[in-house]
Amino acid sequence: MQTFSEIAPLRAALAEARQAGKSIGLAPTMGAFHEGHLTLIRRARAENDAVLVTLFVNPTQFNDIEDFVSYPRHPERDAPTAEAEGADFLFTPSPDEMYPKGFDTVVVARGLSERLEGASRPGHFQGVATVVAKLLNIAGADRAYFGEKDWQQLQVIRRLTADLNIPTEIVGVPTVREADGLAMSSRNVLLTAEQRRAATVLASALDNAQAIADTGVQDAYQIAAWLRQTIEVQPLARVDYAVVVDPETLQEVDSIENGALAAVAARFGKVRLIDNRLLRPAPGPAVRR
Ligand code: PAJ
Repeated sequence: MQTFSEIAPLRAALAEARQAGKSIGLAPTMGAFHEGHLTLIRRARAENDAVLVTLFVNPTQFNDIEDFVSYPRHPERDAPTAEAEGADFLFTPSPDEMYPKGFDTVVVARGLSERLEGASRPGHFQGVATVVAKLLNIAGADRAYFGEKDWQQLQVIRRLTADLNIPTEIVGVPTVREADGLAMSSRNVLLTAEQRRAATVLASALDNAQAIADTGVQDAYQIAAWLRQTIEVQPLARVDYAVVVDPETLQEVDSIENGALAAVAARFGKVRLIDNRLLRPAPGPAVRR
């Protein structure tokens, strides 16, 4: 594995791989690897001739300085892990390399960025979209891999690549979970043991939402209300949002008859966690309750 902290030599190495006829898969990350990250790297490995992993804790996507400071960082552990998973290139730029003096351009997927995570974290998706557009341009990859755990982020990235004619295929990867259902996240290590146990309520509330849909309920507001109530039963959870939305636009829907996304965000102490799940309607006619 070759490691680069500067853009120019990374580009030269990638150009060489491309000239040799190799396809390139990109897995962008902020490090502190868990199985979710490793699944992206493995998918990239399985579907491409060469794999580029990027590790950059992007300051511009943190709307809360405390969150940025406390964000887990384990570069000394991540590099050998990326190599063991078959990465050919690792890119670990400094903030100055990504945002040199005079940097003045941003990328915003306007409508999508205002909803859900965007409403709770102003500026977050502008930071994500700008850094991802840069990484896609630097890499010139055939495919880039992103987790469905961050569903809205995935939609923002699909939007910007389409709108800006970036020729990289965006591949969504299903959420990897702990044995008890909690979606893996770098922030999980910041939970106390008690909060960690309480946090399983998010996945179980999402499962509950599907269980309600399975009984024939299609009313999105009714399902969203159940979702919120199931989380609020857990005293350590403070719900930020619990909604049922269109999977592409993230706008609220009235009915799940054509499928919908259940999305939740909640705080456990200072740690804010998100999760989501696609809902499918039960076969057969809708029921009213
Ligand atoms: P980070 O939180 O490090 O996540 C890197 C990638 O791993 C993202 O695509 C994320 O959706 C995916 N991922 C995280 N947890 C996952 C899980 N449990 N299952 C499957 N995939 C999971 O997301 C970012 O970094 C940044 O915003 C980034 C895209 C790198 C831009 O800075």
